[in-house]
Amino acid sequence: MKKVLVVQYSQSGQLTDIVTSILEPLTAVNAARITTITLSPQPAYPFPWSTQEFCDVFPESVAGEPCSLAPLDLPEDHHFDLVILAYQVWYLAPSIPMQSFLQSAAAERLLKGTPVLTVIGCRNMWLLAQERVKRHIHQLGGHLVGNIVLGDRASNLVGVATIAYWMLTGRKDRLWGVFPRPGVDDADIRAASRFGLIIRRALQRDIRSLDQQVLNAVGAVRVEPSYIIFEKRIQKIFNIWSRFIRKKGGPGALARQRRVGCFFYYLLVAIVVLAPLATVAAKVTLRLRKARIEKAVAYFASNRLEP
Ligand SMILES: Cc1cc2nc3c(=O)[nH]c(=O)nc-3n(C[C@H](O)[C@H](O)[C@H](O)COP(=O)(O)O)c2cc1C
Repeated sequence: MKKVLVVQYSQSGQLTDIVTSILEPLTAVNAARITTITLSPQPAYPFPWSTQEFCDVFPESVAGEPCSLAPLDLPEDHHFDLVILAYQVWYLAPSIPMQSFLQSAAAERLLKGTPVLTVIGCRNMWLLAQERVKRHIHQLGGHLVGNIVLGDRASNLVGVATIAYWMLTGRKDRLWGVFPRPGVDDADIRAASRFGLIIRRALQRDIRSLDQQVLNAVGAVRVEPSYIIFEKRIQKIFNIWSRFIRKKGGPGALARQRRVGCFFYYLLVAIVVLAPLATVAAKVTLRLRKARIEKAVAYFASNRLEP
């Protein structure tokens, strides 16, 4: 029987629900032996977050600084036909628990020579996070065979408001009864089982035959052109802020809390004032650089890794 390893971490359970739905066509007919490793950061990240805690994970997310993970409960036999890495995005980077796993000796053992499928559950900005994951997989000797992304349906600004409400209160209901429910829509999570059918068929033959274009044809990856421009711009500013805050100490350090607080106000201004301006600027850039953007869209929708 084919063996599948799922490596995952989820605060609210959303990503776990997504993975469960994707794997439903496999579990329903016992098509594979599935082992799940749930990453457990030490100490655990809070959920819901306080505003200060939410901003304090920013510098290390961007810098790719790992946290401590509880020892992984690994099975004796380390060989898997497929490893599924299920992660969420924190500040345009893979969440710290997933970045920590990817830097561990266990990841090297598990991924070397192994086909890997990535599953992302995020708001809407995942392009540069996936580039980092692609690079890790490549360096660890794994082979990325597929990528599935589930994000919020809400527009960018509405999504920021609803996700902030959810993350800071733990409540997944409609803010003031007006906004949409935060996070990935339940119907989208349920419908994710369609990807599992494709994975099951490929796994029965050879998982390396999994075709991203077949997955994309049923909506596995949708690349929003303007986000290519946004993410690259934001990341440059994030790198500066991350270095600036880290100069005053590591996670939770008292000495850096003023700078963390300033970053929070920067985020507010960026969302309320800069994001609408950037949207207009991106529209102009999209028109001027149509061919270049189209090439970039095709790249981000694929599993290729540019040097
Ligand atoms: C600290 C933090 C930063 C986040 N940054 C982003 C981001 O840059 N892009 C994005 O699409 N989603 C972002 N999200 C949303 C998460 O990717 C994810 O959708 C949410 O945390 C739910 O994941 P869960 O399964 O762990 O509960 C962020 C969430 C947190 C907690």
